[in-house]
Amino acid sequence: MIDVLLGLQWGDEGKGKIVDFLCDKYDVVARFQGGPNAGHSLKINGQSFVLNTIPSGIFREHCINIIGNGVVVDPLKLKAEIEKVAAAGANVFANLYISKKAHLILPTHLLLDAASEKAKGDAKIGSTLRGITPTYQDKTGRSGLRLGDIFSPNFKTKYAELAGKHLQMIDFLSGDTDLAKLEPAWFEAVEFLKQLKFIDSEYYVNDLLVQGKKILAEGAQGSMLDIDFGTYPFVTSSNTTSAGACTGLGVAPSRIRKVYGVFKAYCTRVGSGPFPTELDNEIGELIRKKGHEFGATTGRPRRTGWLDLPALRYAIMLNGVTDLMMTKADVLCGFDTVGVCNEYNLKGSITSQLPYDLCEDGLSPKTTDMPGWDETLYIANGYDNAPDTFKSYVKYIEAETELPVSLISTGPEREKTFLR
Ligand code: GDP
Ligand code: IMO
Ligand code: MG
Repeated sequence: MIDVLLGLQWGDEGKGKIVDFLCDKYDVVARFQGGPNAGHSLKINGQSFVLNTIPSGIFREHCINIIGNGVVVDPLKLKAEIEKVAAAGANVFANLYISKKAHLILPTHLLLDAASEKAKGDAKIGSTLRGITPTYQDKTGRSGLRLGDIFSPNFKTKYAELAGKHLQMIDFLSGDTDLAKLEPAWFEAVEFLKQLKFIDSEYYVNDLLVQGKKILAEGAQGSMLDIDFGTYPFVTSSNTTSAGACTGLGVAPSRIRKVYGVFKAYCTRVGSGPFPTELDNEIGELIRKKGHEFGATTGRPRRTGWLDLPALRYAIMLNGVTDLMMTKADVLCGFDTVGVCNEYNLKGSITSQLPYDLCEDGLSPKTTDMPGWDETLYIANGYDNAPDTFKSYVKYIEAETELPVSLISTGPEREKTFLR
């Protein structure tokens, strides 16, 4: 069977930590979309790791880790990541498998991403500049290169054709066309990757399912960054919702059992775009400080705000979430009150639905203040020992979403996780 775990907000919900915790009970962890725009943090035995492309099961000796066809891969970044996790003791050459159908991020995709962001000026998306959009554009434009192509005798010719096309586009956007500084290391990384296990991942994954293996599909980004349902155009270029697990791994919807939706006890967003509950004030600053809300990939400060229930319910609906998992509840320790947005005020009317365009003028959150909880949450040994005000917060979310919060995380470490 296959379970899917994904983010319900704007990314960075703590997916990596939860996958690392849960995959004790799984045989396989598989990434299905996104690329090195993702930064999934794990903290194991006091050591912190950030994974960008490698699935978060890599530190579990028994786990097979698959990079699915829906992922976009930068060989240079992946090589660096493999070296890092191998040095930390992960059995990466044995346990990592890559789909031949995953698309390649070329050095020109990075230059194109930077040039198009620059050309957008104030309207920029705030991309991670990892070449994600241009790579997915080439995929849907049917001119992309896939990892399986690196074994083709024509690889260099195909590469040169595509890179040449990109250079013309970059030149048109008045971007940086200095490719010579990037190419040698990139080609070296492509050679390095050849020692990995390349698979026809759709067959491989379905065979594992027939063998009765337990697979956890690990989402990247968050539902509000989904290309179809996120806050378009301030989104990423893949389907981050559960449907993406089907297309990004080649599994049928009927195979999916549980959908775990991870959310923070508040909200964050990095990059541009609408954020109805944003706290552009001292409270927001305090949450950023206490929650160390700085991007795991880019180091950019994350914008912070109260929990947004209309957006959460929307994400639950789109993904068919069966279980909620709440992270970073500890960050709100010590607040007298904690805000929750249950509805929006849209030009004088109250709505609990997300409007077509969240950027619309006249949209403001209707926020309720709930009693906060004290520092004992840090030391609470299990949910039963948590402060009553915290339990009321959890019960309120459960009532509003009609779903159980089946896991609560109160710290970056594996041990700071309660199952309910
Ligand atoms: P991901 O992209 O969804 O995997 O999340 P990130 O790793 O980008 O960001 C989550 C951050 O919060 C990381 O620094 C984690 O170590 C940290 N984290 C995860 N869960 C908790 C938690 O329950 N409490 C606290 N304080 N930090 C957490
Ligand atoms: P994880 O998996 C948070 C945001 C970027 C930008 C927008 C588009 O760690 O949760 P892109 O580089 O994809 O073209 O950027 O999406 N973004 C993320 N924000 N977490 C992520 O991944 C993100 N991946 C992309 O900041 O606003
Ligand atoms: Mg992240």
